[in-house]
Amino acid sequence: MTIKLKTAVPGPKSRKLMARRLRAVARGPFHATPVFLARARGAVIEDVDGNRFLDFAAGIGVANAGHAPAAVVKAAAAAAARCVHAGFNVTPYEGYVELAEKLCAAVPGRGPKKALLVNSGAEAVENAVKIARVFTGRQAVVCFDHGFHGRTYMAMTLTSKVKPYKSGFGPFNPEVYRAPFPYAYRWPGSNDPERVSAECFRAFTDLLTSQIGPDQTAAVIIEPVLGEGGFVPAPASFLRKLREYCTKHGIVLIADEIQTGFGRTGTLFACEQAGIAPDLMTLAKGLGGGLPIAAVVGRAEVMDAPSEGGVGGTYGGNPVACAAALAVLKLFQDGSLLAHARALGGIIERRLTDWQTRFPCVGDARGLGPMRAVEFVRDRAGKEPWREAAGRVAKHCYEHGVIALTAGTYSNVIRLLPPLVITEAQLAEGLDVLEAGIAEVRP
Ligand SMILES: Cc1ncc(COP(=O)(O)O)c(C=O)c1O
Repeated sequence: MTIKLKTAVPGPKSRKLMARRLRAVARGPFHATPVFLARARGAVIEDVDGNRFLDFAAGIGVANAGHAPAAVVKAAAAAAARCVHAGFNVTPYEGYVELAEKLCAAVPGRGPKKALLVNSGAEAVENAVKIARVFTGRQAVVCFDHGFHGRTYMAMTLTSKVKPYKSGFGPFNPEVYRAPFPYAYRWPGSNDPERVSAECFRAFTDLLTSQIGPDQTAAVIIEPVLGEGGFVPAPASFLRKLREYCTKHGIVLIADEIQTGFGRTGTLFACEQAGIAPDLMTLAKGLGGGLPIAAVVGRAEVMDAPSEGGVGGTYGGNPVACAAALAVLKLFQDGSLLAHARALGGIIERRLTDWQTRFPCVGDARGLGPMRAVEFVRDRAGKEPWREAAGRVAKHCYEHGVIALTAGTYSNVIRLLPPLVITEAQLAEGLDVLEAGIAEVRP
């Protein structure tokens, strides 16, 4: 047994810290749990009261290679001892170049590629759009319903969910258009993924033809699996058709793999499973194993469109974060972590499918590889989103030693994001807690 609770949750020290947090920290940052962290290793989080939790959140899909893997900690410490920051814009260093080389080799696509390193997912999205606009000389950007791309102005404009991400923050950026995402469970008329894929692609082409003009469109940005939107995979057929359409019309296809990347779906990147190579890929989260680093990687001619000094920043590709990211990539190198991730995916899929048959409140169970989720509804037929059910299950989880996150446009989804180093026994222990929480959900 990994879970060990010494106090009721939250414990007394967490409560005291929360009181201080409420006085000193702005309201904006959200907490999925009320417990304060003391340390984290592998798939285990220990709080300040000595309670041990199984982590099904991984810092929102960051600690894919586990919390504080020894190799990452060692590489970051050694890099920090050499230099914490000098600025790639001032005196370049090898770690940035080596990480760019490794990322170019790792992302799908045959031709020459280049990379730009930045600090956060939102910053990667901003830069991908800037690069696509300069490269094409066009302005329009097409995104999808239920998408999440970050909290800066362009990234927020591209994001779908109004509360809490957009409400009151307008006006938003111009020249952003939204097409339907093939979310089969919530598509009117059919939940057959292939039919929904075809109908959504038709809506996408209609939007471009009737409202924007393909020759005015700089970029199309899509998450291969919706992250914050509730872990809905886009059918491979949809992604392939987008790829063909963008190639035909000279539009830059951006795959936002910030949440799906680094093994989260069982392959290094989700696009691999659809057999497509985007023109640009945005990466963050799992890349640095916890250190803030993000990247835009893609076709060299596209990446080279901005002039010198047009993109970049003070901290982008910080040497400590680069060293950590290189160590993370090494952990994925021999394929065993990915094989383990796929095995976890099989186990999770079987459990979630079983819940869908047994619990009427579980309307949908879905995902790709180990990136899986359940969607709660008040009734199977009407599919009315049941936000409180997801909230109650998440609360049951942390009170019983599992850190789990909600998601979805209607906040009625529980998503599973365990560190991919979690053992099968730990996973089963955590899933048992989750199942007990779902079993308790009553209207
Ligand atoms: C798909 C996707 N894109 C972009 C972002 C924004 O990343 P960040 O929070 O690092 O700015 C996220 C964060 O959750 C994400 O899931």
